[in-house]
Amino acid sequence: MNANVEAEGKVGEVRERYGRIASGEISGCGCGLGDGSEQTVALGIGYGADDLAGIEEANLGLGCGAPIAALAPRTGETVLDLGSGAGIDAFLAARAVGAEGRVVGVDMTSGVPVCSLVRSAFESPF
Ligand SMILES: C[S@@+](CC[C@H](N)C(=O)[O-])C[C@H]1O[C@@H](n2cnc3c(N)ncnc32)[C@H](O)[C@@H]1O
Repeated sequence: MNANVEAEGKVGEVRERYGRIASGEISGCGCGLGDGSEQTVALGIGYGADDLAGIEEANLGLGCGAPIAALAPRTGETVLDLGSGAGIDAFLAARAVGAEGRVVGVDMTSGVPVCSLVRSAFESPF
């Protein structure tokens, strides 16, 4: 099999799996934290309960850590969230950088529903 065909196959597998998670057909990444619920996973990998309040739909329980808390972006900075999923980190980054900053979320899986509060934060930035 040539390398491009193989790479496209892998991309297709990733899109298919995250698409199924985003549609609610399956859940989580299978990392086995606690009961495996999105909330338990998120709290277990470093998000705070305050981070998650009101943006439950943006938490797909797929992260490997809480990058915005670790990176601590400052007011006015620009953040690129590559592989943003439903927008959990883009939302937290937007809160940190404020109206003078900029956040761009990019995801290759179509059909990932962006949490409504996240979408409204981008329409009327903090
Ligand atoms: C583990 S999930 C994390 C989603 C989100 N950051 C979160 O914490 O809930 C990885 C995401 O990255 C996306 N992704 C993977 N490779 C990508 C690429 N090369 N370009 C854009 N998105 C990508 C997938 O579609 C998936 O939504």
